[in-house]
Amino acid sequence: MLKLSVIGTGYLGATHAAAMSSLGFEVVGVDVDESKIAQLRQGKVPFYEPDLEDLLRAEVDSGRLTFTTDFSAVADCDVHFVCVGTPQKKGSLAADLTYVDASVVALAPHAKAGSIIVGKSTVPVGTAARLATLLKDLNRHVELAWNPEFLREGFAVEDTLRPNRLVVGVTSESSEAILKEAYAPLIANNVPWICTDLATAELVKVAANSFLATKISFINAMAEICEVAGGDVTMLAKAIGYDPRIGSRFLQAGIGFGGGCLPKDIRAFMARSEELGAKQSLEFLREIDSINQRARQRMIDLVRADIGQDLKGKKIAVLGAAFKPDSDDVRDSPALDIAAQIHAAGADVWVHDPKALHPARSRFPDLNYTENIDECMRDSDATLHLTEWKVYREIDPAVMKSKVKNPTVIDGRNALDRDLWIRAGWKFRALGRG
Ligand code: UGA
Repeated sequence: MLKLSVIGTGYLGATHAAAMSSLGFEVVGVDVDESKIAQLRQGKVPFYEPDLEDLLRAEVDSGRLTFTTDFSAVADCDVHFVCVGTPQKKGSLAADLTYVDASVVALAPHAKAGSIIVGKSTVPVGTAARLATLLKDLNRHVELAWNPEFLREGFAVEDTLRPNRLVVGVTSESSEAILKEAYAPLIANNVPWICTDLATAELVKVAANSFLATKISFINAMAEICEVAGGDVTMLAKAIGYDPRIGSRFLQAGIGFGGGCLPKDIRAFMARSEELGAKQSLEFLREIDSINQRARQRMIDLVRADIGQDLKGKKIAVLGAAFKPDSDDVRDSPALDIAAQIHAAGADVWVHDPKALHPARSRFPDLNYTENIDECMRDSDATLHLTEWKVYREIDPAVMKSKVKNPTVIDGRNALDRDLWIRAGWKFRALGRG
């Protein structure tokens, strides 16, 4: 049985390590962050991801999954998965590759002959080829491969164990054979296997995320048109989604995409295309990015249109801080960005979120946070629904009406039951609904 290492134990790495261990492999997770490793060793996940903690604890208890800060622990591993972050560089659209480069440099002296280093991080095309050259100098007995990850936060375990495809970029048949062995249990479950070159494998990932971002901005552009033409974007999305060539998923209009992936990936892709002399090819992504940013502004405009230009002293209830439900991730969260802008305009902003209050508070300490929806909405001048957690769809608008100062709700995610709220006597507003 192969032995695996996973370098970087954040979202991607912790999930990958636990999932691969659950397939029966011995896995060692390595990270430079001692406190993270200490938590993982006890079976604790340092962020919120449904199902992950149970899986992780079971795997740690089984003895197959271990964690360390010591790179020499990878010495007897056959496959080393690099799962470190590639955030946006400060002051640039490009990705910061410091952690990917550092991982390969740290791994190389410990990796045994015949083992392979497999990048899973999202990187600009050409990175794998550059790292392969670097690796030749550091340890010529080890090969590099690329295996992009498509997991979604909130479904990380499911997506890792039951992905809709496996994509690997390799430079030799032996690397493909090792990867096939590592993923044998998934391949046995008919997960499509796509083996290609390094550049294509890197590109598949950013192409997929760019397409998803484009779909969201497309529907948000339609929302803008619906607003001026008096249409309803939710009906429009439903109607076009029945065409299987279009598909109904990722057509949820609202305040747009955020998180640690889509925004930075389309920007890094643009930056890379410019370096490659193909700036024009991805020029449209600039527009995708601006439509997405505009959605946040349109939400604020809607608040102003409803409760007045001057937000000073108005109590605004914000339902949701995470960039999407079932996650505590607030990186580039449209919800939190809107909350902060409304606060900056002088409003008394109260934010509720089932899981993301702690990270939200560390990012924007000046907002008011509460774990109680009642407290968030009590005496408010407007309620903004900004992250579509299930718990918000379970709010009884009839009960809440008597608690707020002004029964106005603005649905930034087009996920609340409009008729229900209107019947309960609320003024209901939403993006893209005429
Ligand atoms: C995204 C991709 O979906 C994954 O396939 C990919 O592996 C991951 O990035 C990554 O690169 O690691 P994720 O960031 O977890 O996954 O979130 P998504 O589910 O894609 O949602 C992104 C944002 O788009 C969220 O803010 C969500 O609220 C928003 N969104 C999504 C919409 O505004 N409308 C939609 O119809 C769908």
